[in-house]
Amino acid sequence: MDASNTRVLPVSDAAIDEAARLILAGQPVAVPTETVYGLAADATNAEAVARIYAAKGRPSFNPLIVHVPDLDAAEKLAVFSEQARALAKQYWPGPLTLVLPKRESAHLASIVTAGLATVAIRVPRHPAMQALLRATGRPLAAPSANASGSISPTRADHVLKSLGGRIPLVLDAGPTQVGLESTILAADGEQLRLLRLGPIDLGLAFEPGGKVQAPGMLARHYAPAKPLRLDAIDARPGEYLIGFGPVAGDASLSRSGDLLEAAARLFDLLHQADASEAVGIAVAPIPAERLGLAIRDRLGRATHREGE
Ligand code: TXA
Ligand code: MG
Repeated sequence: MDASNTRVLPVSDAAIDEAARLILAGQPVAVPTETVYGLAADATNAEAVARIYAAKGRPSFNPLIVHVPDLDAAEKLAVFSEQARALAKQYWPGPLTLVLPKRESAHLASIVTAGLATVAIRVPRHPAMQALLRATGRPLAAPSANASGSISPTRADHVLKSLGGRIPLVLDAGPTQVGLESTILAADGEQLRLLRLGPIDLGLAFEPGGKVQAPGMLARHYAPAKPLRLDAIDARPGEYLIGFGPVAGDASLSRSGDLLEAAARLFDLLHQADASEAVGIAVAPIPAERLGLAIRDRLGRATHREGE
């Protein structure tokens, strides 16, 4: 991998325009936020979001935080309780992420929420991220801009060391101010639940070792209600077959065997299969390499029902 393929531009109006152009073309761009540098992509474009996973080499799909410029934009994507709105008014823009019920009408790629009915939303304070949100006019999905398994980047250098050669652009605004990922709070039910400790302390109890210890690993994922069978080369009676490459199926993740396209379509096809008349779901073999690893991990989790 040649790190010189990645440009680093100090933040300026021209740099923001260039970053916005790349994002609207479906590329992920590293951008400073007040917490850590994020790897941002258009949250309405499934393939753009799949490129985040490809660049990070992340071996699983976790739901990502959607960044928007203000509370009005957030209300278009999610349903706020009075309590959630009060928190948003108090802490946004800033390092607080709220997990909320996703609106039916929200225009978000299903890979962003890993197929869940909730969405994690944050209004960042950093002027560069704010400028990028306004220049693109899109909600931006952004995990920390580091390769999977390495630590979160708080300087453009860190991003370059970790993702150099894998992304087209890093916007550089010097070291981040907060340096720690946002506090994550679920506000999708009666009771607020703290999902990740962070810069904002709301005095909520957090149990290390408890159920919500590491949202990245433990976040509930969408699992189909129907039994799921992997590495299938044909459908058994009553099964809906999700194809890939040479295995055609009822619908295909990617006829050409493209893993990026497959990742982008995965959750939509799982929902489609689940909503069909079929009694079970079978999925064609996906190669255990690159994004295929994340797809296989996700499918493996989906075969285990909650409570099992
Ligand atoms: O400060 C931050 O939050 C940074 C900057 C870039 O904004 N972003 C960040 O994103 O830390 P990420 O992808 O590393 O962390 C997102 C966390 C994951 O642990 C994920 O499981 C959780 O948010 N999450 C996202 N959507 C969720 C949902 N619907 N339900 C529960 N957890 C969710
Ligand atoms: Mg991270």
